[in-house]
Amino acid sequence: MNVADFGDRYRERIWETHIAEDFERDVLAGLSAVQKTIPSKYLYDALGSALFEAIVLLPEYDLPRRESALLERYAPHIIDRSTRRLRLLELGSGSSQKTRTLIEAAIERYGSVEYTAVDISLDAVRNAAVQLLDRYPEVTVRALVGDYFQVLGEVAPQPATLALFLGSNLGNYPGERGVAFLRAVRGALAPSDMLLLGVDLRKDRALMERAYNDDIGVTAAFSKNVLARINRDLGAEIDIGNFKHSSVFDERTGSVESYLIAACVASYSLGRGRGTVSFAAGERIHIESSHKFTHNELRVLADECGFVERGFFTDEDAAFALVLLERGEEAAKISGL
Ligand code: AVJ
Repeated sequence: MNVADFGDRYRERIWETHIAEDFERDVLAGLSAVQKTIPSKYLYDALGSALFEAIVLLPEYDLPRRESALLERYAPHIIDRSTRRLRLLELGSGSSQKTRTLIEAAIERYGSVEYTAVDISLDAVRNAAVQLLDRYPEVTVRALVGDYFQVLGEVAPQPATLALFLGSNLGNYPGERGVAFLRAVRGALAPSDMLLLGVDLRKDRALMERAYNDDIGVTAAFSKNVLARINRDLGAEIDIGNFKHSSVFDERTGSVESYLIAACVASYSLGRGRGTVSFAAGERIHIESSHKFTHNELRVLADECGFVERGFFTDEDAAFALVLLERGEEAAKISGL
């Protein structure tokens, strides 16, 4: 089945992206920095996305199961918070699997629902749309394909929107980037619209680190794939075998920081005309920050971005939370940015 089979129930708009050019530029800049780094968005090529789908099945990585349980429990309540018929706007929709609980709750309450999916991957959005359109005759889907910031900067606010940013994806935007992201979301909302965040909470260090250091090495493969991608896409000659994956909770940043660590001194070609990259023994490449939030930190962040907390739903061990925010009337504070 194809999205075209659903006629008026499916619309899409695609923003032009420059992933190949950006990838080359960002990799060369990141690997020539003093603290070597590769932006985490490049973890998700076709193979990386498939490996992430495997990560969510790992017993060690329990975030998705905790989030789903919370959604099952609180979706009707969250949908009932709005006095008007809601539209759903999901950022980073991926497979839209978890969103089903909210879609079902909205159909239950209003008889039908408009669902807008924003994602960088056209394939992911179309596949998810076909599944939803086929399963729920009451759903219409609008797909916005592009970078979050690009898309958010251009969509006109539609009243009575419930925006969704699930999967602890906010954790990949530490500090000022998280602030910028939430302000961009706010800009795409009308007064009294809502935003539901799914976030992983600060907890025992061993528990947080275990989620990123699984026994069978799927997370390590997911991380190393970004080096393999540099070899594949740029024709570089990095010896992946010289790198070890390591994820450690950093008290200072409040995030699990993931690195690839070079075992031996080495120098590798970056592909035609791009020179080489050199590593000292034990030198690290930073590849991802997975922030672990405290409730207080989330309140401060919401306030700083022009949102007011309307609900905080967590599980028994306070491991994961759904945070329901309302777009405040007041303009976002200008401090900081
Ligand atoms: C999808 C960004 C939320 O940081 O927990 C999982 C990605 N990386 N295991 C996270 C990830 C390694 C994940 N996010």
